[in-house]
Amino acid sequence: MNIFDTLSNHGVVPVIAIDDAADAIPLADALIAGGLPLAEITFRTDAASAIIKAITNERPDMIVGAGTVLTEAQADAALAAGSQFALSPGIDAAVLAHARKIGLPFAPGVMTPSELQIALRHGCEMVKFFPAMPAGGPAMLKNISAPYAHTGIGFNPTGGVTPDNLADWLSLPQVRAVGGTWIATRDDIAAKNWDKISQNARAAVARV
Ligand code: 3PG
Repeated sequence: MNIFDTLSNHGVVPVIAIDDAADAIPLADALIAGGLPLAEITFRTDAASAIIKAITNERPDMIVGAGTVLTEAQADAALAAGSQFALSPGIDAAVLAHARKIGLPFAPGVMTPSELQIALRHGCEMVKFFPAMPAGGPAMLKNISAPYAHTGIGFNPTGGVTPDNLADWLSLPQVRAVGGTWIATRDDIAAKNWDKISQNARAAVARV
């Protein structure tokens, strides 16, 4: 099973920004306790590589990807740290080509048919649809993806996904998994609200 199929099985990918590497393992344990043993650790903080490495080493059953990967160097760092996949909010052909060369499954962000075609040209199996709600929500994704259904490309909507609209997204067959920051917000991580994060994860799983 490839990594994007594994994400599909879970249906929800927590999008994480951690400032303090010491929070990596408690966060991983909170997500595991909530039934969501996967995370997109974003390169929005300097700690990203260290966190990916810590979780990969200490909680090897957890599925860890790198988010907000904007450069070739970040793709290298993500892979070296143990990331099983990477994503970004937008699409950059040079980063995609590099990710392919190093063997890092990469889901770039798209919002238009032209961006989607660039992703297809680079052999992407999954794209992020970002920012999902402001870009038009499930109705927009349904329309934009219709001409490409035969390619089998899958989508990971993020940006404004909430427990309330999660089921609408997952009812679209082309949606592999949604993503979002609401399960483990930067503030909740900083405040070490591990029980709350577990509850959010559990509530998300219940809606998948
Ligand atoms: C992302 O990076 O995927 C988005 O910032 C997540 O958006 P959200 O904060 O609305 O979940």
